[in-house]
Amino acid sequence: MKPQDKPVDQTLTTRQGHPLTHNQNVRTVGSRGPTTLENYPFLEKISHFDRERIPERVVHARGAGAHGVFEAYGTVGDEPISNYTRAKLFQEKGKQTPVFVRFSSVIHGGHSPETLRDPRGFAVKFYTEDGNWDLVGNNLKVFFIRDAMKFPDLVHAFKPDPITNRQDGHRIFDFISNTPEALHMITFLFSPWGIPANYRQMQGSGVNTYKWVNEAGEGVLVKYHWEPKQGIKNLTQPEAEKIQAKNFNHATQDLYDAIEAGNFPQWELLVQIMSDDEHPELDFDPLDDTKLWPEDQFPWLPVGVMTLNKNPENYFHEVEQVAFGTGVLVDGLDFSDDKMLQGRTFSYSDTQRYRVGTNYLQLPINAPRKHVATNQRDGQMAYRVDTAPGQNKHVNYEPSSMNGLKEAPKKYAEHQPYIAGNLVRQPIDRTNNFKQAGERYRLHEDWERDDLINNLVSTIAGAEQHIQDKMVELFTQCDEDYGRRVRDGLDRARNANEKSTPEEAEEMAHSAQPY
Ligand code: HEM
Repeated sequence: MKPQDKPVDQTLTTRQGHPLTHNQNVRTVGSRGPTTLENYPFLEKISHFDRERIPERVVHARGAGAHGVFEAYGTVGDEPISNYTRAKLFQEKGKQTPVFVRFSSVIHGGHSPETLRDPRGFAVKFYTEDGNWDLVGNNLKVFFIRDAMKFPDLVHAFKPDPITNRQDGHRIFDFISNTPEALHMITFLFSPWGIPANYRQMQGSGVNTYKWVNEAGEGVLVKYHWEPKQGIKNLTQPEAEKIQAKNFNHATQDLYDAIEAGNFPQWELLVQIMSDDEHPELDFDPLDDTKLWPEDQFPWLPVGVMTLNKNPENYFHEVEQVAFGTGVLVDGLDFSDDKMLQGRTFSYSDTQRYRVGTNYLQLPINAPRKHVATNQRDGQMAYRVDTAPGQNKHVNYEPSSMNGLKEAPKKYAEHQPYIAGNLVRQPIDRTNNFKQAGERYRLHEDWERDDLINNLVSTIAGAEQHIQDKMVELFTQCDEDYGRRVRDGLDRARNANEKSTPEEAEEMAHSAQPY
């Protein structure tokens, strides 16, 4: 008999291993009488069900994921990559590293439509031989704000109103009109780039500035980009509405179906590199995540390719419980002083200890695929002790002379940038909030610009007059034509509103929602 021909025991049991003989009826006094409370199998089943949900992610709750592999080129442009980073996953041409990727939208809940105007998350976990590396990015290459202090306010402004529980363009543009650094991101977000057609045909970006460190301990600044081999496809608002009317899972479905059909999506990973200093010659600060690094000065250099080739076996275990964080770096990769990056790095593992639990790193989707040995013990849901083979298990501290864990040998020079200055709470000097936003406005194709203006006007038209005026002023600082078109659109909307009945006006105010 072959192993697969052995009879399989399909008996339903409780979690305690007791065969379950009655799974259709609770235990009652007579067929119509009251239910008894000593009915353990029922209590176990219903109380487990009562706990099936964990807290949603506070942002990026709606997502889809897949497994795959990253293959390194061994070079960056024409140079050996070792000139810049000693990270092992990049060194040899053809070296493969398993990955898990989660794509997401940001603002709304776990089953919200995937056609909404929103940045898309693009988070990649590399299971490297040196432990995990998470590259937690978005589809768009810039962000709304440049200081982590402002993140909860940004998210509150975009989330539903705390009283009406509806997302409200008025609140969004109240915040944006007081946050001029967001104009570059807004010029992307309200164009078709704010609604990628699906997850396969969108770019990814690390957005924040990181560092690479070589064997000599020398650092450079680096930005990461994912370029889809499937091409890029975005939707206008009317196109998105048509899809949403029939299918609010279209992006999850598209990814799953493509992988099931063997049509594996691929992205090339490219980097931009800059020397690690303030670059006074630039009109922006390289650590400002509201800015792009101009491609003509800092070309995109390919370093490898990622293929997604396997769907999750269980959505909850893998996609829901996966935990990415910007602090999860391997040797040869480092942080820059980007203030957003530093704030993010605290936030991710903090929320995950709450969202998933203290021992979230023991779950298979989060655990490194290499030897893990720590002296961390216990906590909720701990089920394994991460020790080294042969280790004296009485020793859960370090240092020890009784065969406990030892510090890893230091193989390479530490990257030790010199930092001096007063402790302050200050914005950066080179804010330059409007120039790149204006460039982006001019770079959009005509249909993208038309869609951008329509979307902005329909959303801002619902805001109070002083917010509308402030927004026109900000758009004008980006580009005169940009400001003029938004102002004309708002004037037209106001005239139409004045001519309409009170019911139509009310209807229009409600339709002036961003998403
Ligand atoms: C998710 C915080 C900025 C991309 C999250 C989560 C938090 C968070 C708390 C939920 C994590 C979880 O429950 O596992 C922050 C803070 C930021 C910030 C405090 C700014 C200071 C950004 C930026 C990007 C980004 C700039 C894009 C580069 C993501 C992505 C996810 C996420 C992709 C979802 C990860 C997943 O799929 O599990 N963020 N974030 N965030 N964030 Fe951020």
